[in-house]
Amino acid sequence: MTRTLFVTTALPYANAPFHIGHMMEYIQADIWVRYQRMCGAEVYFVGADDAHGAPIMIAAEKAGLTPQEFVGGIASGRKAYLDGFGISFDNWHSTDSPENTALAQSIYLALKDNGLIDTHVVEQFYDPVKTMFLPDRYIKGECPRCGAADQYGDSCEVCGSVYAPTDLKNPYSALSGAVPELRSSEHFFFRLSDPRCVAFLEEWTQDGRLQPEVANKVKEWFVRDEQGNPGLSDWDISRDAPYFGIEIPGAPGKYFYVWLDAPIGYLASLVNLFAKRGEDVDAFLARPEVEQIHFIGKDIVYFHTLFWPAMLKFSGRKVPDNVFVHGFITVSEEKMSKSRGTGISPLRYLELGLNPDWLRYYIAAKLNSHVEDLDFTPDDFVTRVNADLVGKYVNIASRMAGFLTKRFDGRLAADLGDDGRALLAHLHGRVDTIAELYETREFGKALREVMALADRVNEYVERHKPWELAKAEGGEAELHQACSTGIEGFRVLSVLLAPVVPAVASSVAAFLDVPEFTWQDATRPLGEHVIGHYSHLMQRVDPALMAALFEPAPAAAEEPAEAAQAADAGSDEPPGGEEIGEEITIDDFARVDLRVARIVAAEAVEGAKKLLRLTLDAGEGRTRQVFSGIAATHDPEALVGRLTVLVANLAPRTMRFGVSEGMVLAAAHGDEKTHPGIFLLEPDAGASPGLRVR
Ligand code: 2FM
Ligand code: ZN
Repeated sequence: MTRTLFVTTALPYANAPFHIGHMMEYIQADIWVRYQRMCGAEVYFVGADDAHGAPIMIAAEKAGLTPQEFVGGIASGRKAYLDGFGISFDNWHSTDSPENTALAQSIYLALKDNGLIDTHVVEQFYDPVKTMFLPDRYIKGECPRCGAADQYGDSCEVCGSVYAPTDLKNPYSALSGAVPELRSSEHFFFRLSDPRCVAFLEEWTQDGRLQPEVANKVKEWFVRDEQGNPGLSDWDISRDAPYFGIEIPGAPGKYFYVWLDAPIGYLASLVNLFAKRGEDVDAFLARPEVEQIHFIGKDIVYFHTLFWPAMLKFSGRKVPDNVFVHGFITVSEEKMSKSRGTGISPLRYLELGLNPDWLRYYIAAKLNSHVEDLDFTPDDFVTRVNADLVGKYVNIASRMAGFLTKRFDGRLAADLGDDGRALLAHLHGRVDTIAELYETREFGKALREVMALADRVNEYVERHKPWELAKAEGGEAELHQACSTGIEGFRVLSVLLAPVVPAVASSVAAFLDVPEFTWQDATRPLGEHVIGHYSHLMQRVDPALMAALFEPAPAAAEEPAEAAQAADAGSDEPPGGEEIGEEITIDDFARVDLRVARIVAAEAVEGAKKLLRLTLDAGEGRTRQVFSGIAATHDPEALVGRLTVLVANLAPRTMRFGVSEGMVLAAAHGDEKTHPGIFLLEPDAGASPGLRVR
């Protein structure tokens, strides 16, 4: 029976571009989804930005933007990553959307009708200057245990102790520096401790669906304390205004805590997809065969195995069928920061021309079905890609195709001979095992199996030595069999690798002149088919490129020679075509906050010939949008990856096309008509985004 799957990845906070950790999760889910699609499953694979919450509200305010403008800027950068790495989402949406508002409110009201919403008065720190309640991470003070200064409201980075924000000595607001006041406010709670929830979750989490290590971890959360109180406690789902979120119906000034509406965003994205296609999402979700699967990281298991299934169950909705949990990615054993990521920028990887299928292959080769961390090591990356993907796999085609085309007009032999048949029988015999490994997310094992098969094909080629047969008198028939078998073997390997390296698989399908692969193609020989022309499928990884990935972006190419000529003006003209400005003091200059910024994206602006829309990273853990009048002189593609200088404290300006959050510095002559040219400033190589220019 064909399967119907609703698959999601965790929704990323809309406050920063993707890092390698996001890409790992998307690649893992995408491989599984592509495998399912190849098997004929009907798949709805969706994602969205997780837009709400206090940190995003505060970051937007700092940037002088509305939260909507702020998250809109981040959202506009997503496509480059998703398309770049071949992530085949059917839809990308946002939790700050009408669909999510309607769903969150309706789920809440259903839980309320079901007697699962309570209210209690909660005492919390309040910032009298910012006039808002402070989330724990925005309260700092001295550690109640060791006295270390400037510790966060939940734990001490010096002695490691964990406490409540109200335990801090001399607390202050990290936002305004003000001394916070304790204030009371009514909060809404989801009654997770209700016996109905506990009974449902004990069953749902322990019935064998979850990975064993996940089920065991979750089990600990159910354990009652010495007083016999249930392990699961009620969940505070409300926040007071000001808050960037969804209003709680019937409770003015109260908003849903971001983690309540975040997973509902999975459904919102699905609803949005169905609306775009003019199809009925309720009918879809009512189909009993639909399987709902969430891919997530190990840090958000509590939300996805307790709150989320319980919210769905007790609002009368379909519950998830499974949650697939993965570990974290480290780079050369170094831990990644959740907001900043690692030293590898996925966008830089693409800009350098590194092949996205290499990263997909490398990550897949290191993934299994367990919650284990995975390490990216540059040397290991080069070795695996070059030895396996290029050395064992791609090389088969490049060695066989020429003979077939030149000597046999590309026609495969009808009879592959005993040895050829035996080889193919062996390959076909492993297909179900490999299918099962994809199904169970044992991608590393699947690829080891495929590479063992590639070894068999290579052994066959070595045994038959087509390059000798080609020269031998009367070797024609055997040459035809050998090359046909080699190509047929290569085709089987390509089908088996297609979920992992989709771009290569498409090129192979084109070269073989066959439709895009389905899983069944693995055991369905081509027979006397005529293949197309071979064109190079994949390069080896150049270790120098790997090294470049870990270096700061290179300095831009030299400006053309005319630039120097234009600057060489006559002596009676003011320098650069204009007089030196009025004298200022160093303090005047210091008011202008200039920062090094990396151009992470650049594109033309529709309806404004002169402007480019730049996305800049000034080391703030988010990006800025800046419009710059350099379209006539600069090719947007060539700008990506360059460093420049940003006026970082310029008041944001709302333009017809969006908000410009600063200005980049460029040199130009006072009379642009007679002296054309705009020269973007750029710091020495080695500078990093965020450095101040003084
Ligand atoms: O941890 C995070 O990055 C969250 N933004 C994940 C949310 S997943 C889902 F609930 F939306
Ligand atoms: Zn301490």
